[in-house]
Amino acid sequence: MLPRLFSLSNITATTRLHGYRAFSSKVAPKNYAFAFDIDGVLIKGKRTIPEAKRAIRMLNGDNAHGRHVPFVLLTNGGGVTEQAKAEQISNMLDVEISPDQVILSHSPMQALVEQYKNKNVLVVGGKDRECFHVAKKYGFNHVFIPDDIHHWQASVWPFRHPSRDSISPDAASLDFSKIPFGAVMVFHDSRDWGRDIQIMLDAICAENGVVGTQKGDCKVQEVPVYFSNTDIIWSTEFPVPRLAQGSFKMALENVYHTLTGTNLQSTSYGKPYPTTYAYAERVIERINDGKKPSRIYAVGDNPAADIKGANNYGWTSVLVRTGVFQEPGNSPHFPAHSVCQHVEEAVEWVLQQEEDKEKKA
Ligand code: G3P
Ligand code: MG
Repeated sequence: MLPRLFSLSNITATTRLHGYRAFSSKVAPKNYAFAFDIDGVLIKGKRTIPEAKRAIRMLNGDNAHGRHVPFVLLTNGGGVTEQAKAEQISNMLDVEISPDQVILSHSPMQALVEQYKNKNVLVVGGKDRECFHVAKKYGFNHVFIPDDIHHWQASVWPFRHPSRDSISPDAASLDFSKIPFGAVMVFHDSRDWGRDIQIMLDAICAENGVVGTQKGDCKVQEVPVYFSNTDIIWSTEFPVPRLAQGSFKMALENVYHTLTGTNLQSTSYGKPYPTTYAYAERVIERINDGKKPSRIYAVGDNPAADIKGANNYGWTSVLVRTGVFQEPGNSPHFPAHSVCQHVEEAVEWVLQQEEDKEKKA
């Protein structure tokens, strides 16, 4: 069944309410577009940032000039499908967001399917088996999660029983002594750092990727490792930022280096990495009727991810003070093109810039 906001009657109701549809091919392609960060810009945990609703309404035509401006959500969050995130944000902002407008930290990792679709992949992080389903949906055919290995042998992590973990329907037939891992991919934040670091090391340091064996020479890393983001911290409804996937990565790297004397080799996605921006530009072009906008405005709260990434990729960055960044002035390490109190002010600033440009042209 379609969720509340996605029923036809509700789309019509929203259209009637605001005189537009959030994402419509009738909207003329624009020469500029927005990429919004989610956590700390539009929402904080379960709470909607109030100015976010007005900001999105403005882009959907509710502005002095009646302009409709294309936008995407570009987040280092994930752990669910693009469809599920679109529904969550649509409900929280009370506006229709299409899954086509959502770029999650792991969305660009779909490029890895070609290489790993028929290999065994250990997918780490997220709630229950959600990342397992995301990876399967992307096209990885042989996906396993740490819970599967813990269920196979509880002694893998003897400090707690695997009973609280999600059980694979194939649990009884899984014998990991016969399953060589071809890659380890972290899709979202680990729910049990100790257990997951242990199991990742088991796979990375194993002979031919078979958990329960150990390579003679740990200096040569055979199992590639991928991270979907490297944020050290992120913003929730808690007053102080929380540890994110990048902190987990540092913990893993530290243990790996201590044990092997070598640095863990890995590839990272998400902001601030160019692969993610290249992917986002293709998405923006697609939702803008195939036209590449000349300017992309990135609105974010995390200087090390949102601002660094946008600046490096030639986008215009706008830093807001509703999330990770709260200090006065600009970020000293990754200064943004503009700093605003919140996302509504950011959108107003951009629309004004663009109106001024139009007048001059
Ligand atoms: O790293 C945690 C992630 O949830 C941050 O998301 O939307 O701030 O990029 P976002
Ligand atoms: Mg953020």
